[in-house]
Amino acid sequence: MSFYLFFTLLILTYVIAGGQSYKPKDGITLDCGSFGNYTRLGDTRSWAGDISSKFFPSEGENKESIASSATFDDHTVTMEVPYTTARLSLSEFTYVIPVTPGPKFIRLYFLSARYENYNSSKAFFSVEPDEYTLLSNFSIDLTAGALRRKYLMKEFCVTAFRSSLKIKFSPSSLIPDAFAFINGIEVVSMPTDLYYLKGAHDGITFVGEKSPYFISNNTALQMMCRVDIGGSFISPNGDTGFCRSWEGKEREDDLYLTIPGSSLLPAEIDSTKLKFTKIPDYIAPVQVYQTARTMGNDKEGNKKYNLTWEFPVDWGFNYRVRLHFCEILEEVNSTDNRNFRIFIANKIAEEYADVVEWTVGKYIPYFRDYIVPLYEVLGGEKKLNLSVALQAQDGWLSAYANAILNGVEIFKLNDTKGNLAGPNPDPIPQDPSPSQQEEIEAKKSDRTTIIAILSGVVSSVVLLAVLGFFTLRRARKVKDSLY
Ligand SMILES: *[C@@H]1O[C@H](CO)[C@@H](O)[C@H](O)[C@H]1NC(C)=O
Ligand SMILES: *[C@@H]1O[C@H](CO)[C@@H](O)[C@H](O)[C@H]1NC(C)=O
Ligand SMILES: *[C@@H]1O[C@H](CO)[C@@H](O)[C@H](O)[C@H]1NC(C)=O
Ligand SMILES: *[C@@H]1O[C@H](CO)[C@@H](O)[C@H](O)[C@H]1NC(C)=O
Ligand SMILES: *[C@@H]1O[C@H](CO)[C@@H](O)[C@H](O)[C@H]1NC(C)=O
Ligand SMILES: *[C@@H]1O[C@H](CO)[C@@H](O)[C@H](O)[C@H]1NC(C)=O
Ligand SMILES: *[C@@H]1O[C@H](CO)[C@@H](O)[C@H](O)[C@H]1NC(C)=O
Ligand SMILES: *[C@@H]1O[C@H](CO)[C@@H](O)[C@H](O)[C@H]1NC(C)=O
Repeated sequence: MSFYLFFTLLILTYVIAGGQSYKPKDGITLDCGSFGNYTRLGDTRSWAGDISSKFFPSEGENKESIASSATFDDHTVTMEVPYTTARLSLSEFTYVIPVTPGPKFIRLYFLSARYENYNSSKAFFSVEPDEYTLLSNFSIDLTAGALRRKYLMKEFCVTAFRSSLKIKFSPSSLIPDAFAFINGIEVVSMPTDLYYLKGAHDGITFVGEKSPYFISNNTALQMMCRVDIGGSFISPNGDTGFCRSWEGKEREDDLYLTIPGSSLLPAEIDSTKLKFTKIPDYIAPVQVYQTARTMGNDKEGNKKYNLTWEFPVDWGFNYRVRLHFCEILEEVNSTDNRNFRIFIANKIAEEYADVVEWTVGKYIPYFRDYIVPLYEVLGGEKKLNLSVALQAQDGWLSAYANAILNGVEIFKLNDTKGNLAGPNPDPIPQDPSPSQQEEIEAKKSDRTTIIAILSGVVSSVVLLAVLGFFTLRRARKVKDSLY
């Protein structure tokens, strides 16, 4: 009985927390290589098969493509829609997705597996919607392998200028027998003030430069990281309507936090305290602003370190860094209580960051955007870390010598040729060490247990199970998500 009570409470918490404040005009979820409609855990939407669908014209160059189900050699993990099937081809194929003109999220889903006689280790291909190149010579095996995973989702923001988006998949011509494939495509519309600016006058701080940077609607973005600092994983259903997922902390550690120093996670505040007076309430879920990381209570100690996160990115692009802030601490009442410096990629981005001053009050969600150019190549590394470091201010400016951060989003901006693609990571040595293997097994069994409990005990209450699954997952801080 108590189990049910526990569950009901979790579900209630989830339902209250997951407010969807934006209703997208376009919400297309395509399960490539299948026929019919499917749903999956944690997702209230229906995924439509592309066979005989209006999104996949089956004549012309598309005729050569094959629909196949995935053969996946790891039987301990259950794959879900849209990963279970794929469309693939040794020649080019194109999806034509009718949309309303305007900015869109495009999410692409890939699973490293065998598709009939095609092993995804031989897949090298590009993905080009309209005039953009999102991926080029892309290898899912190398990309997911570097993260010790089998599946991944890549998210982009692209503006549709016409009433359809043509998404072209083409195998790399320089690699013999290369093929292109795709498991799932998602297209969701967004308002222009989410990531594109409304007016021509709203430039973004260009770190290290005097004049601001303007992002126009012909810029395509690739999401590199989206983190709920100090909080837990937020699933697409818990987002504000855009179906974004937010990474959360694992055990007590924030991902990407490299210099935690003596930092703390302040108590999560009640969501009813939040006042969306500075930004629209769909910018980020309330959970992002309810939690944070601060430097800690030791005023002297805080001056001795920079609270630092490092995010892996590719060389040769401009990046847009969005920092989410909300002053949630009881003892911070006014401006100059908590004033700090922000360094991005070791350059000063903000000399006097004062959240209470920016928002004119407490409990008011807010964000700041920065553009950072990362062009210098050092030591031939393929990847580099983009750092975000917070440094406490000294003296009268800052009563507590402290700093706060609630959330981070990092996007790559397309280059002058409309390209966003970076190189593939190098193959990683196989056979993870025994301790890592143990960790992987533990995570898997955690998930299997959750699924078993859910299907056994509450199989009749499908919706509740869906919500409960994610709440439980969030509560247990399972990182290895399907998104
Ligand atoms: C899938 O669902 C849509 C919308 O509910 C419906 O129009 C379509 O006929 C369904 N497709 C199949 C193959 O059942
Ligand atoms: C793109 O921006 C231009 C200039 O601001 C504007 O005229 C046009 O309507 C925008 N197009 C779309 C599809 O948003
Ligand atoms: C695909 O090929 C790779 C490398 O040759 C191999 O390690 C892997 O097991 C193969 N996958 C399947 C599902 O056959
Ligand atoms: C914090 O970062 C700034 C800028 O990179 C640097 O000048 C300063 O020495 C750092 N402070 C500490 C304690 O590492
Ligand atoms: C802010 O208010 C709290 C509670 O009223 C108080 O304890 C704290 O000392 C105040 N902080 C400052 C810097 O005045
Ligand atoms: C980036 O930071 C991570 C975590 O500190 C580290 O393991 C990795 O080697 C760094 N990568 C580069 C290219 O410096
Ligand atoms: C991004 O790509 C578009 C399309 O090719 C291009 O018009 C735009 O100038 C590019 N942006 C930058 C910053 O080069
Ligand atoms: C494609 O990727 C592979 C693996 O990373 C690399 O060896 C090859 O040089 C790349 N080809 C091109 C044309 O970039």
